[in-house]
Amino acid sequence: MAINKVGIIGSGLMGTGIAFVTARQLETEVVVVDVADKFLQKSRASMEAMASRAVEKGQATREQAATWVQRVRFSLDKKDVAGAAIVIEAVPEDLALKCKTFAELDELCSGDTMLATNTTGLPVTQIAAATKRPDRVIGTHFFNPAAVMKLVELVRGCATSDAMVAKAQQFCASLGKETIVVQKDFPGFVTTRILNGYFLEALHCLEEGVASAEDIDKGCKLAYNHPMGPFELMDLVGLETVLAVSQDLYSSFGERCRPSVLLRQMVNAGRLGRKAGQGFYSYAAKGKNA
Ligand SMILES: NC(=O)c1ccc[n+]([C@@H]2O[C@H](COP(=O)([O-])OP(=O)(O)OC[C@H]3O[C@@H](n4cnc5c(N)ncnc54)[C@H](O)[C@@H]3O)[C@@H](O)[C@H]2O)c1
Repeated sequence: MAINKVGIIGSGLMGTGIAFVTARQLETEVVVVDVADKFLQKSRASMEAMASRAVEKGQATREQAATWVQRVRFSLDKKDVAGAAIVIEAVPEDLALKCKTFAELDELCSGDTMLATNTTGLPVTQIAAATKRPDRVIGTHFFNPAAVMKLVELVRGCATSDAMVAKAQQFCASLGKETIVVQKDFPGFVTTRILNGYFLEALHCLEEGVASAEDIDKGCKLAYNHPMGPFELMDLVGLETVLAVSQDLYSSFGERCRPSVLLRQMVNAGRLGRKAGQGFYSYAAKGKNA
């Protein structure tokens, strides 16, 4: 599939990873857009670090790795994604923000452009409804770290065409990814919904004093052959994101998805600038009342 240009909206954790893997795998221009220069600078630095690691590991020459980062253009203006074959949105998990972003992209991009959202679990159908091309909107749920993780969960909105599913499958294959297709746009899709239940039970075990975060992680790693335990994974994803997803699933599925009080307290502590709220391991080390 010939792709002239790929646009990425949001240069945070996921946008940076998706832009990097696209620039690494495809000889195409990648335009990354954010709202402030400091985010773009951080994104560039983290792409440079990923490129350097690839050189250290012998996966690329210094020249090849430099080319990857040179393919990425950093911009503060969404107009710069015009002309892209595919635009992937990776702004925070907030439905109103995503709908606003898609309405803007719909105005800026030609009718041929596939508009994709990296949402973890928000309704693709509703995001697509912010545009006049809901048939060309799809969920492309990459996993963190996007340059490493094999899966992309493709999510059909009510109106997503078969042609867009095929286009997304081809694009992901060209990035070296495997895909699954979520046929029904249900909250949390497949992977987020199942992961949320797993996180919730781990949080309840900690809240109820059943075991420490370290022992729950160790137990899950060794018992299930998972590379990380639930608390390590929550720290990697970001507690704000874990809570946002949990609240969204609670509003759809009710009591069985009620967010954990402990998680809410930790996110609020983080918002107040307390270091102890930033992750389970700093939290565990400092004690619950730190
Ligand atoms: N963190 C994860 O592990 C993970 C995994 C899979 C999917 N996701 C999903 O990916 C999306 C992004 O998550 P993230 O962890 O990268 O978030 P993040 O907070 O790290 O990055 C979001 C970026 O979007 C930028 N942004 C905000 N408003 C914008 C706008 N109007 N225009 C352009 N840029 C804007 C922010 O400045 C920030 O740099 C979310 O929907 C999240 O649920 C996250």
